[in-house]
Amino acid sequence: MEYPYQIKTFEEYQKNYKESVENPEKFWGDVADNFFWRKKWDKVLEWNFKEPKIEWFKGAKLNITENCIDRHLETMGEKPAIIWEPNNPEERTRVVTYSRLHKRVCQFAQVLLNNGVKKGDRVCIYMGMVPELAYAVLGCARIGAIHSVIFGGFSAQSIADRLYDANAEFIVTCDGAYRGGKAIPLKSIIDDALIGNRTVKKVIVYTRTRTPVSMLKGRDIWWEDEMEYAEAQIEKDNVITMPATEMDAEDPLFILYTSGSTGKPKGVVHTCGGYMVWTGYTFVNVFQYKPGEVHFCTADIGWITGHSYILYGPLSAGATSVMFEGIPTYPDAGRFWDIVDKYKVNILYTAPTAIRSLMSYGMDPLKGKDLSSLKVLGTVGEPINEEAWHWYDENIGKHNCPVVDTWWQTETGGILISNLAGVTPSKPSWATLPMPGVQPVLVDERGKEITEPDEHGLLKGNLCIKAPWPGILRTTYGDHERCRTNYFASYENLYFTGDGALKDKDGNYRITGRVDDVLNVSGHRIGTAEVENAINMHTNVVESAVVGFPHNIKGQGIYAFVITEKNTHEDERAKNDILETVARIIGPIAKPDKIQFVNGLPKTRSGKIMRRILRKIAEGETENLGDTTTLLDPGIVDEIKQNKV
Ligand code: PRX
Repeated sequence: MEYPYQIKTFEEYQKNYKESVENPEKFWGDVADNFFWRKKWDKVLEWNFKEPKIEWFKGAKLNITENCIDRHLETMGEKPAIIWEPNNPEERTRVVTYSRLHKRVCQFAQVLLNNGVKKGDRVCIYMGMVPELAYAVLGCARIGAIHSVIFGGFSAQSIADRLYDANAEFIVTCDGAYRGGKAIPLKSIIDDALIGNRTVKKVIVYTRTRTPVSMLKGRDIWWEDEMEYAEAQIEKDNVITMPATEMDAEDPLFILYTSGSTGKPKGVVHTCGGYMVWTGYTFVNVFQYKPGEVHFCTADIGWITGHSYILYGPLSAGATSVMFEGIPTYPDAGRFWDIVDKYKVNILYTAPTAIRSLMSYGMDPLKGKDLSSLKVLGTVGEPINEEAWHWYDENIGKHNCPVVDTWWQTETGGILISNLAGVTPSKPSWATLPMPGVQPVLVDERGKEITEPDEHGLLKGNLCIKAPWPGILRTTYGDHERCRTNYFASYENLYFTGDGALKDKDGNYRITGRVDDVLNVSGHRIGTAEVENAINMHTNVVESAVVGFPHNIKGQGIYAFVITEKNTHEDERAKNDILETVARIIGPIAKPDKIQFVNGLPKTRSGKIMRRILRKIAEGETENLGDTTTLLDPGIVDEIKQNKV
């Protein structure tokens, strides 16, 4: 497969960037011509950020699975699409060729049809990282059902909230999932999530761990039985006959829930045409993918990184994508390097938190591992500190592999700011330059563009984007107004990212982290309000305030200040009970690292919690708390400072 839109030189990047900004319709129309459309668009782009209403490739018809699978069959049918590495290295690996992927996706799409799933229906997927998860996701896309994948680390309550919000009628899950030394009982968590649920009609269960599960008559069915039945329906004389449903470019492809600064997680909606073009385009350009190379993205498909750079991006480019079931430290901290060695991985894409964690094991886990196949290294999910960047560059890339620091978000569908491997320059801990089509702007609190450099010659402000790129979110499911207020109302005619950034004189961007009440813990996005709500649900808790603090491995840790009814301050048990409550309400990933019991919280006279002060205390900067005179009870600050944990 060829990629005529792959940028090869810095000059070409500059030329492409200019064209994409001056004439986006021509530019993206030309890029999109390299994908397979049943019918081409009537208009490449129509948009306003006011409502917002964003339409790419209007009037075009397609099915993304025909791009990710069918169009590769003739020339690459026997090439591996997915190489699956199990949690336990002793277990057999699985190589899924494009033709096998085609068959399995069609088979599962037929299973969905057999069970009454129709175009536009929401299907919730709660599975471990097994190839069947890919079949489930792509099977939905094949018939136009909207998938909503939920990460295996979320609790029954979180699933219940998402099922309710998406009004989902179908679930695909596993009996259990292996992660390191643990087996997580997914089906049993689904059963808890379904207590009281009246909308879910069918639960399809794939067998992975053989954990005993309860199977409710009429509702719960086995993946294996259904697939066997569907096989005969879709295959005649060794030919697969399952057609893909024709979708409008702007029909929803999936919903993915993500945390914001207020309320419950929102369902970010991506559509078929623009998302396909954006993930395919960015994959080929950022990683400079060449046909035949092996790409290993270590994310979980429960997050956007897995959607875009394990599945849709690589598959649309006909790439070979490694899918890993386990964790980087099981059975030992050399696991990633074993995988790189075993499959001769060319591109490794992981998170700073994984790099920092592996760094802490020293060089032993690298001994005897041949990493010479590596060509490109990538990072995503949080700011990468310079130490981790250099460790990655030196010990993994041997100074031979460009490191791409890719900045983006669930809402952006794919990478927005990053160097292009070996084509545009890298700069440690800087995401560097925007992708073609992306027009960043830094603004102050009132939305005025920052033009005056600070004392270091840098512009510093809140990061916004001026115009849409094909992969931008279209709405938040069931609540368009929430989409508008969250992203498009802070500053007129701008998409606000929620991040702060610096810009140097060469136009490079460095993302400094969230400027809203969203935490980034090990690359997982968690809202402080969500954690507070969960803590407040614990009996005895009167009020709480949650802030982030710098954490060596996780990037940010969660620090909770909690007021309880009774004086349980010394009680370790109370802390553990609160942790258990948070794990129940949100999931283990949201458990605070530190809990401090307090008698009061610093509040303004109007009753607003001064998070700025709590953040400073949590960061250990107790000397420099700024102005505390407007507080209702300034004395409380001293007390909190003295009892810091
Ligand atoms: O704060 C930024 C941070 O992760 C946030 C988006 O999180 P999520 O939607 O879960 O998507 C993560 C994977 C794309 C952003 O608002 N972030 C992501 N990538 C980077 C980053 N911060 C700094 N540098 C990055 N490369």
